[in-house]
Amino acid sequence: MAFEKSEVLEIIKENKAGLTRELKEKAAAQREAVFGNSVYVRGLIEFTNYCKNNCRYCGIRCGNTKVNRYRLTKEEILDCCRMGAELGFNTYVLQGGEDPKISDREVCDIVYSIKSEFPDCAVTLSIGEREKDVYKAFFEAGADRYLLRHETANDSHYGRLHPKEMSLSHRKKCLYDLRNIGFQVGAGFMVGSPYQTDENLAEDIMFLQELHPHMVGIGPFVPHKDTEFKDFPQGSLNMTLVMLCITRLALPKVLLPATTALGTISPTGREEGILCGANVVMPNLSPIGVRHDYSLYDGKICMGDEAAECISCLGRRVESIGCKLDFSRGDSPEIKTKKA
Ligand code: 5AD
Ligand code: FES
Repeated sequence: MAFEKSEVLEIIKENKAGLTRELKEKAAAQREAVFGNSVYVRGLIEFTNYCKNNCRYCGIRCGNTKVNRYRLTKEEILDCCRMGAELGFNTYVLQGGEDPKISDREVCDIVYSIKSEFPDCAVTLSIGEREKDVYKAFFEAGADRYLLRHETANDSHYGRLHPKEMSLSHRKKCLYDLRNIGFQVGAGFMVGSPYQTDENLAEDIMFLQELHPHMVGIGPFVPHKDTEFKDFPQGSLNMTLVMLCITRLALPKVLLPATTALGTISPTGREEGILCGANVVMPNLSPIGVRHDYSLYDGKICMGDEAAECISCLGRRVESIGCKLDFSRGDSPEIKTKKA
């Protein structure tokens, strides 16, 4: 269902004080109609927290000197995948800052090595903005999917969240390059980020309808103590759920994670996300020793049920709301897989 901007604003207004049962049920029904009761599992490997960017909201931005920086070796990354494979995972998400010390060739080598050892798995990269040729090399090395949140689809809002070297237009160019190369592409945004208006959220939906990505990552903004946004309030659980519902209805076949940030602001956040149309969970597969250092925002959950080691606890939680973890690759229903 394609929405007009005015319709999105209307839904936001109607659900601001509390998500209506009607919206929630519509979103859940849409998820079920496309995916049944499957919730796909991705293993998240946070392989470097070095970053050359200085996004004003982000705890691992280069300007934060208090971060204990780390970078995993290829062998350490492969060990994470091996642990994931033992747990039954078939998708690995390699996420990291824009680390200038990891060359494009090294990224290709890491992807190639994972695909050689686990030929049936899907590899998702989430390592920021690159030139089109570089994205192409990543794809040729075997990467299947790429996550790059647009963060906000409004130019001036983008400018308030990022240093002047970064631009929304370049971000969008990257997203279109990725999709033209053949990646399954993920965009996304934070809910309740500083200076965000309802109008901005409606613009995010308009942009998603235009790009039509295969995946959309939506989580609440959560302040980080070592950023200039430390005193801004965190995004609301309710509004994050509303945006998940609208996204599910706008893009019925989208892969929509119940994000870690959602699980961080509420102990039942991820279950509520699934009940509002989300159909992906991404347990943390990073080595336990580095998990606390990948701190994008305060209080980020990375142990307990959200950790890969506790996948059976997560499975029980998902079953308690009538769904089931699905360990298959979980490709977008809108593409043919590379092998097909
Ligand atoms: N709160 C919530 N999400 C954040 N991200 C970065 N910093 C924060 C924060 N303070 C998100 C961004 C980025 C993703 C990797 O993490 O949307 O794209
Ligand atoms: Fe840009 Fe972390 S520095 S999201």
